[in-house]
Amino acid sequence: MTTGRTSLTIVLAAGEGTRMRSSLPKVLHPVAGRSLLSHVLSAAPRGTGASLAVVVGPDHHAVADEAKRYRGDVETFVQRDRMGTAHAVLAARETIARGADDLIIAFGDTPLISAATFERLREALKQGAALAVLGFRAADPTGYGRLLVEGGRLTAIREQADANPSELAVTLCNAGVMAFDGHKALAIIEKIGNANSKGEYYLTDAVAIVRDLGLEAVVIETSENEVRGINTKAQLAEAEQVMQARLRKAALDAGVTLIAPETVYLAADTSFGKDVTIEPFVVIGPGVSIADGAVIHSFSHIVETSIGKKASVGPYARLRPGTSLGEGVRIGNFVETKAATIEAGAKVNHLSYVGDAQVGANANIGAGTITCNYDGISKHKTEIGEGAFIGTNSSLVAPVRIGKGAYVGSGSVITRDVPDEAMAVERNQQTNREGGAKRYREMKMKAKAPKDA
Ligand code: UD1
Ligand code: MG
Repeated sequence: MTTGRTSLTIVLAAGEGTRMRSSLPKVLHPVAGRSLLSHVLSAAPRGTGASLAVVVGPDHHAVADEAKRYRGDVETFVQRDRMGTAHAVLAARETIARGADDLIIAFGDTPLISAATFERLREALKQGAALAVLGFRAADPTGYGRLLVEGGRLTAIREQADANPSELAVTLCNAGVMAFDGHKALAIIEKIGNANSKGEYYLTDAVAIVRDLGLEAVVIETSENEVRGINTKAQLAEAEQVMQARLRKAALDAGVTLIAPETVYLAADTSFGKDVTIEPFVVIGPGVSIADGAVIHSFSHIVETSIGKKASVGPYARLRPGTSLGEGVRIGNFVETKAATIEAGAKVNHLSYVGDAQVGANANIGAGTITCNYDGISKHKTEIGEGAFIGTNSSLVAPVRIGKGAYVGSGSVITRDVPDEAMAVERNQQTNREGGAKRYREMKMKAKAPKDA
């Protein structure tokens, strides 16, 4: 934290992103399960004295909503005509005029930037610079603004379209992120004109203006990976690779066992307890937490799910949004869950669909059990009591409640509630399993009976 200094971060996100060839605004495309914009907003300074603004395009309500979702304190401004990055910054003029100590400009399509890098730029301001520009050595500088440095001082940024051959040979490039002395910023940015090949107001011209005013502009260097800008789907995929590598490393550093890290996909918000193991080829989407000692077996796909301590999931499990697994729950192969709370010790070991359901502790859901939650119009709930036993290949037609300790014979189609401890065998042909059901119940009763009775 650059203590004692106030900041305003402006994130530019008004671009159309035509090269993405998508109807979704560019900054809403996801990396590691979250929008590009959300990554930038998470890295931007926050807390006391830190304010935040996002500049969006004229029809970008969805972008403004996404910004608010991640940062309730954000102000949004609309840039009606896209006339360049300096013009975009000035869309937020009224908030710049309030005069934070540090004015930070970031791009909504540069999602890999870290909070530490914003701090490094701010540190340069604290040391007296009027402008700190984030630079990097580009493997291929084509398309980027070139940072022109003379005698160790940044003198100008030259956009590709305006550069001469010797300037084009420069590989030190502008990442796009800048920090201004917030009390001088407005005067500097208002001086920027549009006398260039594109007729746009380039924020990058601020460097030459700062120099002409006799103030200091500096370069803070970072790695190319941190400042990859996303303009195409190919670049989106590259950013995903970089982000996944970071997330896997962070998980390993935190003690998660990843047997083949490069085959596991994580989300930016995945949280892990101690001694979690994830086998190869697992895909984790947003909103997943995995508690101590849980094991995720291969080929599982998990989204918006909380996994309890020592639970075991998969192989080949699909846990959909709203799934919550208690301690020691076992979810086996080819099981799908959705909006399902499955309490401690319950087992759903094979080939089941458990949706809109509450499953009590230690219940046993046999292979092929289906909660028939949808009647074609609305969704209904299935409740399964603690310790209930659902025989294989049963259909539980919701809304329905299976009582605590109840027994459902295999192959049943249950359309009415089954009381606690009751036995239900609902099928056309009755078989020898009724005897099994009785014996099972007697056994449970015995186990429950007081020892000295
Ligand atoms: C910009 C920089 C370039 C730098 C590169 C890094 C300028 C003039 N050039 O070029 O030096 O190397 O980024 O990626 O700043 N935007 C608006 N409104 C506008 C124009 C742009 O909101 O009128 C937003 C875009 O949505 C985007 C960002 O500003 O998030 C950058 O604009 P873009 O057109 O991508 O600039 P580049 O040509 O990449
Ligand atoms: Mg760009």
